[in-house]
Amino acid sequence: MNNRVIIFDTTLRDGEQSPGASLNVYEKLEIARQLEKLKVDVIEAGFPVSSPGQFEAVQRISAEVNAVIAGLARAKEIDIKTAYEALREAKRFRIHTFIGTSDIHVNGKFGDDRYGKTLSEKRKTVLKMAQDAVAYAKTFTNDVEFSAEDAGRTDIVYLSEIIEAAIEAGATTVNIPDTTGYTFPWEFGAKIAELKKRIKNINKAIISVHCHDDLGLAVANSLSGIENGARQVECTINGIGERAGNASLEEVVVALKVREDICKYHTKIRTEEIYNTSKMVSSFTGIIVQPNKAIVGENAFAHESGIHQDGMLKNRQTYEIMTPDSVGVNKTKIVLGRHSGRHGLKSRLHELGYKLNEKELQTVYEKFLDLADKKKEVFDEDLRILMGDQAHNIKEERFELEYIHVIMGTNSIPTATVKIKSGQSYIQESATGDGAVDACFNAIERALDIKSNLESYNVRSVTSGRQAMGEVIVRIRENENSFTGRGVSTDVIEASAKAYLQALNQRQFFIETKEEQENFNRSLSDLSQAV
Ligand code: KIV
Ligand code: ZN
Repeated sequence: MNNRVIIFDTTLRDGEQSPGASLNVYEKLEIARQLEKLKVDVIEAGFPVSSPGQFEAVQRISAEVNAVIAGLARAKEIDIKTAYEALREAKRFRIHTFIGTSDIHVNGKFGDDRYGKTLSEKRKTVLKMAQDAVAYAKTFTNDVEFSAEDAGRTDIVYLSEIIEAAIEAGATTVNIPDTTGYTFPWEFGAKIAELKKRIKNINKAIISVHCHDDLGLAVANSLSGIENGARQVECTINGIGERAGNASLEEVVVALKVREDICKYHTKIRTEEIYNTSKMVSSFTGIIVQPNKAIVGENAFAHESGIHQDGMLKNRQTYEIMTPDSVGVNKTKIVLGRHSGRHGLKSRLHELGYKLNEKELQTVYEKFLDLADKKKEVFDEDLRILMGDQAHNIKEERFELEYIHVIMGTNSIPTATVKIKSGQSYIQESATGDGAVDACFNAIERALDIKSNLESYNVRSVTSGRQAMGEVIVRIRENENSFTGRGVSTDVIEASAKAYLQALNQRQFFIETKEEQENFNRSLSDLSQAV
């Protein structure tokens, strides 16, 4: 039996569905290029029918990145056609179509009588929709994946029937998602084994698993799926994704590598690129990796207690099952400074996974010199932060911070004055607050005449030492939409103001593109009448 496991990365689709993790097209492209370097087999670049932004990102990635590019589509002609339009420039592409199959999904999503009056009638309709969707996708490409959404909670008899029908219609990969992260590893593994037994044409397709982490079992379930016959794993960098997230790519891949002795499966992943990829995704999404996270957390290779340190000095294997180098955690970091030239900066950034054209390099170099003036030593972490800032800034910012001035002390009321550039004009306002940050936010709100609901505020130091860069991530909420902003500076008050302004920029961008989104939806509905 073939023991090669295909790695299907869905960081840019399911991962981007993490609350607050919206990525712009430049960030998505940069991540896709890094995923290519990591050597993932398939990159799910987005859900093209869902918005003009998603469509554009899938289109750009298809044109510029060499892995197999997948686009998600519901089992509807309009979704599939739109996915094809976004993917068509790719050298190799896959249409990934899905439909809910558990009773909860079938009754809930197809409750209307036109899908059938009884559960059994509705199931027949859903099966036919799945088959038609695969057959339609097949008219655009041979590489078609079918997902039975909520397969984890789907009755095994019905699941076998619908998967068999999808393969008969031409699906080359059949995905079994544990959409709600509900199953236990042995239960999920048994489900995969049972499907292999029941489905007559199963050898014509690759079985894939897609596990969510609601019970913290996504990686264990994925491994159990492999052990029972799955040869594709869908996962995300840092395990980001809907709710508690997806199976983490780095954990699945490194587990397979470290325990080759008991499981003979392998992937094509270049594990030395894992750390760079993790850092890039964290900095672009603003989702911080918990320090104790396996493989990529800051403490993953730290040995604190005396006994452990002593053991490590005598023999690293005493407390280490893999080396930091094997996953790209390089302890001897190269330090740049005021006298490092553009070439040195460019080549270090390249090693960290960033590809820049001359114009971008010049902008980053200026920021780098600025930083090197404030901080004697510039570490890899600082460079990653600069790059995170750069990618955000490529998008047209509606509001820019010109300056900020804050007065505070133990016996005075904190007061902030901000000057903001909005289009061609400048607005200056002052406000007081409960603290310096609150005063800044109030001044910004007053200047822009916006009142927002601050949902979360996080600050952390990026490197060590008194001159370390501070990174602030804020999330604001407006009804069902949330917007994230990130700001960095050697001064945390300035970083806070930048982060807040960036979240407001995202909000503004959303408001301004709402009309574009509505036009997009209208053109889709015209198209759906034509197909
Ligand atoms: O979790 C899920 O079921 C999904 C499908 C769309 C594959 O993300
Ligand atoms: Zn999912």
